[in-house]
Amino acid sequence: MKYPSKVKIVDVGPRDGLQNEKAPVPAAVKIELVHRLQDAGLTEIEVTSFVSPKWVPQMADAAEVMAGIRRKPGVRYSVLTPNMKGFEAALLSRPDEIVVFAAASEAFSQRNINCSIAESIERFRPVAEAARAHKIHVRGAISCAVGCPYEGEIAPERVAMVARLLKEIGVQHIGVADTIGVGTPVKVERAMEAALQHYSVDDISGHFHDTYGQALGNTLASLQMGIWQYDTSSAGLGGCPYAKGATGNVATEDVVYMLQGMGIETGIDLDKLIDAGKFISDFLERKPNSRASTALLNKRLG
Ligand code: HMG
Ligand code: MG
Repeated sequence: MKYPSKVKIVDVGPRDGLQNEKAPVPAAVKIELVHRLQDAGLTEIEVTSFVSPKWVPQMADAAEVMAGIRRKPGVRYSVLTPNMKGFEAALLSRPDEIVVFAAASEAFSQRNINCSIAESIERFRPVAEAARAHKIHVRGAISCAVGCPYEGEIAPERVAMVARLLKEIGVQHIGVADTIGVGTPVKVERAMEAALQHYSVDDISGHFHDTYGQALGNTLASLQMGIWQYDTSSAGLGGCPYAKGATGNVATEDVVYMLQGMGIETGIDLDKLIDAGKFISDFLERKPNSRASTALLNKRLG
């Protein structure tokens, strides 16, 4: 079996990880998390979302968080922008990458961004154009790529359709997202194959929530297909407020532990990463939702 020799991880903890937290997390804590992640060697960090504060109150401090980050050369800072209003606000914060987020499920599109898939593409079109005109990289997420909390199982053809639409409007990279973590390896392979009809293997990433404990298996299945980019979340935080029952993304710590054990390079210092996950978990007054972190923290105690 041939695996990629190198994997790029986007830590989405500050955004996906925290967006679902009910109690407000101060901007200073979010900024500190970003700093700790970049000190641990992360070169891609999804920082925040420029979305409606009525829809996602936790992300209302997006501009403040972006302004407070001490930028490290070589690190790409990304933000979510669902429409031009979000993009225009984000632009002032100088993101390196913006993310538009579509869904392979009509029902989820309606619940999450209040419009149909087709309408969402029309909203993203000027966003992608403006971003590219400003030389900002454009990523697209395809939510519910294997299953939807409202529609159930999603056919791979839906993923191919959304990938095609995103490609047509100039989205440069897509993330195949198992929003509610229901996917299993063969289903995820099919979703990836559908994405590969329109994007090259170098322009696709996996975004796996771990609700059913399948995310590492799904990551391994994707690695075997040559997919080498993954969104993961520090301490396994995360969830979408509009995806009922969804829990966190796969923990960055667990993925890095697995990749290190496989001899795959990530450039990440696992010890520092564990400290970053512990920092945010301590703030939230819970234990990191990562088996590797738990095991390694116990080992430190001797
Ligand atoms: P809408 O209500 O249809 O928007 O929401 P609208 O254009 O009709 O505007 C309504 C109000 O929102 C207006 O304010 C606008 O100014 C304001 P009002 O006049 O009522 O005071 N507004 C905004 N404010 C700030 N920033 C903006 C913005 N746009 C409009 N960008 C909208 C449509 C998309 C804005 C809304 O549905 C929304 O914010 N949704 C965001 C939902 C979200 O953030 N979900 C989580 C992220 S996606 C995710 O987690 C999945 C992912 O991880 C992959 C996976 O796991 O699947 C990426
Ligand atoms: Mg997500």
